[in-house]
Amino acid sequence: MSNVLVCVSGGIAAYKACELVRSLQKAGCAVRVAMTKAACEFVGPITFEALTHEKVLVDLFEENDDPIAHITFSDWADVAVVCPATGNVMAKMVAGIADDALTATLLACDCPVLVAPAMNVRMWKNAATQANVQVLRDRGVHVVMPDTGLLACGDIGEGKLAPVEDIANAVLQVAKGASRPQDLAGKTIVINAGPTREAIDPVRFIANASTGKMGYAIATEALARGAKVRLVSGPVSIEAPAGAEVIPVVSAAQMLEASLEAFEGADAAICTAAVADYTPKRKADHKLKKSVERLDIIELVETEDILAALSARKGERVVIGFAAETNDLIAYAQAKLARKGCDLIVANDVSRKDSTFGADTSKISFVSADGVEELETMPLPEVAHAIIDRLAHLLGERA
Ligand code: CTP
Repeated sequence: MSNVLVCVSGGIAAYKACELVRSLQKAGCAVRVAMTKAACEFVGPITFEALTHEKVLVDLFEENDDPIAHITFSDWADVAVVCPATGNVMAKMVAGIADDALTATLLACDCPVLVAPAMNVRMWKNAATQANVQVLRDRGVHVVMPDTGLLACGDIGEGKLAPVEDIANAVLQVAKGASRPQDLAGKTIVINAGPTREAIDPVRFIANASTGKMGYAIATEALARGAKVRLVSGPVSIEAPAGAEVIPVVSAAQMLEASLEAFEGADAAICTAAVADYTPKRKADHKLKKSVERLDIIELVETEDILAALSARKGERVVIGFAAETNDLIAYAQAKLARKGCDLIVANDVSRKDSTFGADTSKISFVSADGVEELETMPLPEVAHAIIDRLAHLLGERA
């Protein structure tokens, strides 16, 4: 059971924090609440006291049975979630301002923190708010992004509190991560992910169906286990996990260069990316015109194998590759293990609906010099967990 501190700041969405408290309790969490005085204008502390059977922290000096309540609350919390997070409270978090009970408690929290922003669309879009959200994210705060819709002020736009269910799920996910073994603490892991795009001309390219979900799930798990993660990512449309150092790339050549650079000083690399095997020999500097130029024949040259290049430089370090196959999965994976020189191949049968590109589950097998281990179909976070278990084991063997 996790202890969740719900921090309610002063916006109209404050009433939705009551629902969040209930959802978290139903999921088995112990919940306490801290509020700003502005939040009390929208919902009374009595409501939260009735829900939690705990004293609600509003003022450090008034209800004084505990003179250091901000320390007591922050010590108690396994996870803190600011819901709703106003622009003002996020600005204070960024600056480290602790001028009320809620911000003092947040400043004292060393547990994972989530924020669920909610405000008027113009306040949300303001450059100051956007910059503050980015700083919080860079510091490892999890941001549950607001939705677009009709706002309480009557405007339509981005700034509506995310659905309470999504916020509760994000808290539970983080709480689960917070109780993970920190067996990758002090390790730096390079993960490449997503597709690459090989330009034909300024508007056309060759790509593939990779979504990056697998690599991003592995990055999330590695971070939860205490690793520093360098995420070399091709173009994807999913949100990077908080705390990862993201190195965006487009082409296979850029991914090779970025992966090699990121591998310097790192302890391991996991190559999940669907790297293009071929790239156009010539990239036109203007849009090719089919009436004038040939578009039916594009001459291709092979790209360099990133996994093989990292494996050649690894020394005592650990390198893990993937094999996405539609047939003869294990035989092809074994051939790749030998050809590329990595420590482990995660073989993935992409002919299966529950294991293909874009799926939220995967059925993998581990193929290494020690043999083959076939796993059941699992949701991606559990697949990532199993892969990181293997990585931690391999790193442990080298130590
Ligand atoms: N890979 C790589 N660089 C490439 C091609 C592939 O690093 N230029 C890596 C992938 O990230 C993956 C592994 O090699 O970890 C296997 O990729 P896959 O596409 O399954 O195999 P290929 O080597 O491309 O061989 P084939 O297309 O014949 O299956």
